[in-house]
Amino acid sequence: MYQLYVRGDDAFVEDCVGRAVKHGYSAFRLTVDTAHYSRRERDIAKRYVRESRLRATGGEFQKGLEWRTVKLIKDKFKIPLVLKGIATAEDASLAVEHGVDWIYVSNHGGRQLDHGRGSMQVLPEVIDAVKGRAKIMVDGSIYRGTDVVKAIILGADLVGIGRLQCWALAAKQETGVLRMLELLEDEVIRCLGLLGVRNFAELDQSYVHPASPTDLPTVFSAFPLLDIEPYRY
Ligand SMILES: Cc1cc2nc3c(=O)[nH]c(=O)nc-3n(C[C@H](O)[C@H](O)[C@H](O)COP(=O)(O)O)c2cc1C
Repeated sequence: MYQLYVRGDDAFVEDCVGRAVKHGYSAFRLTVDTAHYSRRERDIAKRYVRESRLRATGGEFQKGLEWRTVKLIKDKFKIPLVLKGIATAEDASLAVEHGVDWIYVSNHGGRQLDHGRGSMQVLPEVIDAVKGRAKIMVDGSIYRGTDVVKAIILGADLVGIGRLQCWALAAKQETGVLRMLELLEDEVIRCLGLLGVRNFAELDQSYVHPASPTDLPTVFSAFPLLDIEPYRY
């Protein structure tokens, strides 16, 4: 799946999609939740500035992204189109009406809109709105096999991971990623077995129910790496 931030005009978009098709990508994805780059307080606190951000251009195209670009891609190319960053049922419906093939429910790992809802919270209403007219992908805090199982039960066709692969890469590069995937698979198999089913198809909504978190978030939840003593309410 090739992912693009639209940072150029129509010709730029067409060139990118054309090249993705030529190189055999199975889907093309626009990330649509980054009209603004968020205020990343952890980076600010650590005085970290990514070099590529200093060189980044085309922000006005990213802010001005419209359904017109979706239509352009759908009209000119056959490749399945994915919109990543869908966070409401309303936007999911609009995407389907514009011919989008995959709705990718994501809050960008909580890195974009402060106080946005969690993907798993939004997922059920998106599934209701889409009514099987598009495939559904979800990401955000998928860190254990049980998280994968929960997402599938709630109706996702595909589950994505972000930070998990960063941590695995940092721990042991390619071998680390392979091991991480093995662990996820092992956890999924054990979870299904302990639930008393043999595969995803045997699961239904009766296998999940809402629960309150046992550990409440605090104002410093996002800063575990800064040695700040967490303030408890
Ligand atoms: C270091 C980092 C870089 C990311 N870069 C992108 C990106 O270029 N495009 C994008 O659509 N999402 C990007 N994301 C968001 C991820 O695709 C994904 O939505 C998010 O990390 C999922 O949450 P998780 O980290 O809890 O699994 C990035 C996330 C991280 C942690």
